[in-house]
Amino acid sequence: MNAEGRFEDVEAYLIAQQAKGLLRFITCGSVDDGKSTLIGRLLHESKALFDDQLAALEGDSRKFGTQGDELDFALLLDGLGAEREQGITIDVAYRFFVTEKRKFIVADTPGHEQYTRNMITGASTADLAVILVDARKGLLTQTRRHSYLVSLVGIRRIVLAVNKLDLVDWSQEVFESIERDYRAFAAQLGIEDVVAIPLSALRGDNLSSPSARTPWYRGPSLLQHLETVDVGGDDASGPLRLPVQWVNRPDLDFRGYSGRILGGRVRPGDAVRVLPSGRTSTVARIVTFDGDLAEARSGQSVTLTLTDDIDISRGDVICAAGDPAGLADQFEATLVWMADAPMLPGRPYLVKLGATTLGASFGQPKYVVDVNSLEHLAAKTLELNGIGVANLTLDRAVAFDPYASNRDMGSFIVIDRYTNQTVGAGLLHFALRRSQNIHWQAVEVDKQARIRQNGHSPCVLWLTGLSGSGKSTIANIVERQLHALGARTYLLDGDNVRHGLSKDLGFTDADRVENIRRIGEVARLMVDAGLIVITAFISPFRSERQLARGMVEDGEFIEIFVDTPLAVVEQRDPKGLYKKARRGELKNFTGIDSPYEVPAAPELHLRTMEQSPEESASAIVDLLVRRGVIRRSH
Ligand code: ADX
Repeated sequence: MNAEGRFEDVEAYLIAQQAKGLLRFITCGSVDDGKSTLIGRLLHESKALFDDQLAALEGDSRKFGTQGDELDFALLLDGLGAEREQGITIDVAYRFFVTEKRKFIVADTPGHEQYTRNMITGASTADLAVILVDARKGLLTQTRRHSYLVSLVGIRRIVLAVNKLDLVDWSQEVFESIERDYRAFAAQLGIEDVVAIPLSALRGDNLSSPSARTPWYRGPSLLQHLETVDVGGDDASGPLRLPVQWVNRPDLDFRGYSGRILGGRVRPGDAVRVLPSGRTSTVARIVTFDGDLAEARSGQSVTLTLTDDIDISRGDVICAAGDPAGLADQFEATLVWMADAPMLPGRPYLVKLGATTLGASFGQPKYVVDVNSLEHLAAKTLELNGIGVANLTLDRAVAFDPYASNRDMGSFIVIDRYTNQTVGAGLLHFALRRSQNIHWQAVEVDKQARIRQNGHSPCVLWLTGLSGSGKSTIANIVERQLHALGARTYLLDGDNVRHGLSKDLGFTDADRVENIRRIGEVARLMVDAGLIVITAFISPFRSERQLARGMVEDGEFIEIFVDTPLAVVEQRDPKGLYKKARRGELKNFTGIDSPYEVPAAPELHLRTMEQSPEESASAIVDLLVRRGVIRRSH
């Protein structure tokens, strides 16, 4: 280091760093708590300058054996890194600084209301959180929310930075009362390790050295504490977990499995088990850009070769043979919601867990958490910034660890299927054993047998359109015509189903999702029974139409858009419902104050303004004949 505390070059930096531990921490605070001042000060005091940060990163990337020339910022931003791959901007600034004793990575997240995603992202890699409180204001809802999120992602060490103490005349009383309140709250979160420090970030009191203005305070300054706090816990102490990011196969002689180690360590000769297949093998080599390694540990990106030629693909997880991850498709999870549109139980989402992306849906929240009182409240959905516990169902089994034992293997993000935005993040508690012991009963008279007896194929004719668009009328004629042709049919109609199967459901988004999910399941059973099922539901959301489509085999789902303009159905208004809705007496009415998402690529688009219901029905039957579902001569 030179006189200003700058490192001359990367080599010097590396030598100096080898002896130093790394502390990752996050700073959380409300808008005016003085967070930027605090971070600015810390950086200034440690005399870290931007050039050094780059040099440091360059050094780290090489040291950890990352391939290529690019700086591996992933070294800093692991955790919810999937967001970066999606190209979503996260409002988290990571800063790097060093002192004589330690190096630091600080995640700075904005304090505004839409912070949840940023907070979770920043906190997911941190060992410690600095929670800022304005001495004049004391604990705020945000303070509690931040603390809750921080505890959720597994941070157990907190620094309560009581800032702006100069503005309350360095009052010991104020400081101690805030500290008392906070300890009481933190205890409810199971956080015992709270160090409270009286500060003036602006003036630098108790920042890097004890201040004479707080003679009653005997503890360390903030920087002293950060430099010496024991963060213990070594990721590499757990069993090996290596999610395969890609299979590296440059030629026939070499087959390597590349990814980032998310737990434990590995050496050539170690026995491994690959999930989900469960196959076992032995590590042959640990290959990196700079040559083979004798050992690699959690956090490093490596390529492994195995002694056996077993089938491994992207998303599989290479585990310690004697202590593999779990394998499941249903879980209880904590879910933090980050999108304006609420989480709707039963709606299909994508979940990214490790190196895999899967189809997923959530059940109704078991509860949501009031971050102020920590009370558990009942809820049907999860709103923006909401935190709740719900069951998660994936469309196939994946390797996982509970979040409590491995943060990386036990956390996931939720992605909207259509916008591709990250809408939530979650932590796995444990696997549910429900579907594991329920096997699909093999039956002797199967679908093929029923098809032979019926003399036609089954399918779902899914009519969708606004209320009053003519779905039921057309569906009735279609069923009559099919019946006349000798087909076995069943008509599921909106109003009728809502008197029975779905009589507990209303017209909120969540209830509509559940209504369509149930109808999809019933249609699936009926298709298995060999029937031609005709459904007539508004089914306003493309996600759930897609869900219903996915429940039957390819080609069995025929989406029919009954397209009648809103102005026309409103004019017709056979049940007087549009008038009621316009008067505000009927809430969530499709087309008025609840959306209708037009089908993008229906198998059939019926423009009812151009043809009669009979013509529409014939168009449907013609389509079935063309597709070979049914024959005219039957
Ligand atoms: S869906 O959205 O869940 O598919 P569904 O087709 O079952 O709706 O029910 C629609 C019928 O319920 C309408 O034809 C109308 O008669 C009646 N209805 C009552 N309230 C509403 C509402 N808020 N929005 C739409 N339809 C309603």
